[in-house]
Amino acid sequence: MQQPIGVIDSGVGGLTVARELMRQLPKEKYIYLGDTRRCPYGPRPKAEVKRYTWEMVHYLLEKDIKMLIVACNTATAYTLTELQSELDIPVIGVIEPGARAAISSSQNKNIGVIGTEGTIQSKAYPKALRGIDNTILVEGLACPPFVPMIENGVLQGEEAEAIVKHTLAPLKNHQAMDTLILGCTHYPIIKDLVQAEMGSHIQVISSGEETAREASLILAYNKALAKRFDIPVHEFYTTGDLEKFRSVADQWLDEPVQILELVNLDPMQSSVK
Ligand code: DGL
Repeated sequence: MQQPIGVIDSGVGGLTVARELMRQLPKEKYIYLGDTRRCPYGPRPKAEVKRYTWEMVHYLLEKDIKMLIVACNTATAYTLTELQSELDIPVIGVIEPGARAAISSSQNKNIGVIGTEGTIQSKAYPKALRGIDNTILVEGLACPPFVPMIENGVLQGEEAEAIVKHTLAPLKNHQAMDTLILGCTHYPIIKDLVQAEMGSHIQVISSGEETAREASLILAYNKALAKRFDIPVHEFYTTGDLEKFRSVADQWLDEPVQILELVNLDPMQSSVK
């Protein structure tokens, strides 16, 4: 099946999942949409995140996608079940795959999760982890400064280190924890900073790899894998600043972005213009 796979996020964070998809499924064509103008989703009410997510989904359905990857934990926490029951294509979120990866890495079942306010408040990770193994201990921490820092391209240096140190301080009291889930798809972009702050005894887990594995299993099972000999040209769309998006994408992805366009998802915004 040559149709593209749709990938959505509130901004650039989903690129961390897109990179893994491109590695594990290089014959597939991807259409990525990041709602950078309305990022962050983390502090927004559930109803608003749902509305924005559906706007992204409608945009991608017009492009005839064969599978949807919700590469945003906040959107996954609030909308995955609804999307899965209402769409007639496979829909994959990032929370279950992240939970599975953490369980396979942890030796002592003491797992930490960092994410947006929305993801942590939703308790989606404790539910997913305990849904697999109800003896797991989970400690969650919301890290609101991380997403704006990453969207602004502050990815290393003193300022970034100070923000990471200050934000993660509450987790450092949890001596028993051996695994930390990056429960926001933006966070793998600063994984090295998080790892350095938490120490080498902590396994820092991002969900991209396991999410891509799940996508590949579902496509194979449905006999829907792309068969092509040419190299697919992926399409990227953002609702925000094109140059900021390109600069993170160029640092993060293994190949340059060829097609990048600005889209407007907000009906109010079009009527104001
Ligand atoms: N990358 C997103 C996530 O995984 C959302 C960040 C945000 O918009 O707050 O939760």
